[in-house]
Amino acid sequence: MKKQANYEIENDPSIVEARKRRGKDVNISHFILDSKYLNLGVNKKYLLKTYGCQGNLADSENIAGILQLMGFEETLSELDADLIIFNTCAIRENAEERVFGEIGRVEKFRKKNPNLLIGLCGCMAQEEKTIKKIKSTFPYINIVFGTHNITSLPELVYSSIMDKLNRIEVLSVEGDIFEDLPVKRESKYKAWVNIMYGCDEFCTYCIVPYTRGKERSRRPEAIIEEVKSLAKLGYKEVTLLGQNVNAYGKDFKDLDYTFGDLLKDLHEIDIPRIRFTTSHPRDLDDKTIAAMALGGNIMPHLHLPVQSGNNEVLKKMNRKYTREEYLEKVRKLKQQIPGISITTDIIVAFPTETEAAYLDTLSLVKEVEFEGAYTFIYSPREGTPAAKYPNPLSEEEKKDRLLELNDLINSYFLKGRQRFENQIVEVLVDGPSKNNPQMYTGYTKHNMLVNFEPKGVKEGDIVKMKITKAFSWHMLGELI
Ligand code: 5AD
Ligand code: SF4
Repeated sequence: MKKQANYEIENDPSIVEARKRRGKDVNISHFILDSKYLNLGVNKKYLLKTYGCQGNLADSENIAGILQLMGFEETLSELDADLIIFNTCAIRENAEERVFGEIGRVEKFRKKNPNLLIGLCGCMAQEEKTIKKIKSTFPYINIVFGTHNITSLPELVYSSIMDKLNRIEVLSVEGDIFEDLPVKRESKYKAWVNIMYGCDEFCTYCIVPYTRGKERSRRPEAIIEEVKSLAKLGYKEVTLLGQNVNAYGKDFKDLDYTFGDLLKDLHEIDIPRIRFTTSHPRDLDDKTIAAMALGGNIMPHLHLPVQSGNNEVLKKMNRKYTREEYLEKVRKLKQQIPGISITTDIIVAFPTETEAAYLDTLSLVKEVEFEGAYTFIYSPREGTPAAKYPNPLSEEEKKDRLLELNDLINSYFLKGRQRFENQIVEVLVDGPSKNNPQMYTGYTKHNMLVNFEPKGVKEGDIVKMKITKAFSWHMLGELI
């Protein structure tokens, strides 16, 4: 253990190490909490702040599960908390800046509660530059752990409380799999189910393969068991998670079993809704499309990030498919799953994106008619290949491209929702709307948000309603 500033440092992250794929076998470990940590959190409260993707939301449910097992109770009030953990996202610069701003703000609560512990975990913790910044500017963060060692949390909390030691422990490894992690699920009706971890795609703009390690799939039996037990508990929807679910199973050495096989097996389970995210167009295969075409509990929605509509840019991004191949997959999907809703992610102002290349993205949007999209301005990520590409565009030009794309894409969101006006749809009820508690919200099979007067229905019900009006981002419905 080395000592630096006022930290005990087990391991610092290294972007070079994190890139390596040594082909070692994946260990599957089972989590057991050492009895030494069992009552450490009694009479103490934790608050978890989660940023970023569904992977982080799922990790936070495990972190909460571990903390509760240690005796901590959850609080939603920063002023009440004895432990505040930031589960962070590294995908774009602005997300990172926000987190440091928040940490600076909550540190002030120490005046009232000198025992307050602050923790940082997730993808930012896996970046060398974050750790440097913590040591130089935020040395009051008590515990730092990465995406590969959530299970170190009890020990790190123990050192902070018992030995008053601030500790950083972040591993830059390919990654293993932990089964049986405790979990405190946020919802009683909708559950995340990790089916794989990590990513081996190495898109040139993306930090994830460095922060989350190599692609490694959970065994099918473990996933099927988890979904069956969720169904027994009354869950109505599971969302299968992975950075690239279409690569599921490709790492099995002893088994010829891929994502399409998994979907087919899960289709047999008596649970009303199965979703999954995220898909990679290159790995989306016919077997998966055929499994989706079975319908039933496999929802008619696919999030298929395209990133760009221009072949040169796609090549520079290392996406490994062409515009034509993407469009061909979309054609197959629309043909085999009639009415399917396709959503996407798009990056504008990637370093090599010329005006003509950008116009290719707009024309692809018109061709596919995406019904939802996350659109981003490219954000350079230290240590990734694209961060070294020159980018001649001004900030204003970047923003203009995003705004114009958003205007275009919003028109297709509206069109996609208008097709349901006067139609009867099934909605899984989430509960009261945050903006107007008189109204309830829920999602259709096509993953579209609906607001409606509840008339006695409750969270977790699946109800039929008529869509009375469509907008770009939501629809209004009337129960029938
Ligand atoms: N800059 C902007 N957007 C990015 N994404 C990933 N990395 C970057 C980056 N460096 C976007 C991609 C991805 C989504 C999760 O985030 O569109 O699909
Ligand atoms: Fe990042 Fe590409 Fe992997 Fe998605 S597929 S997580 S964009 S490297």
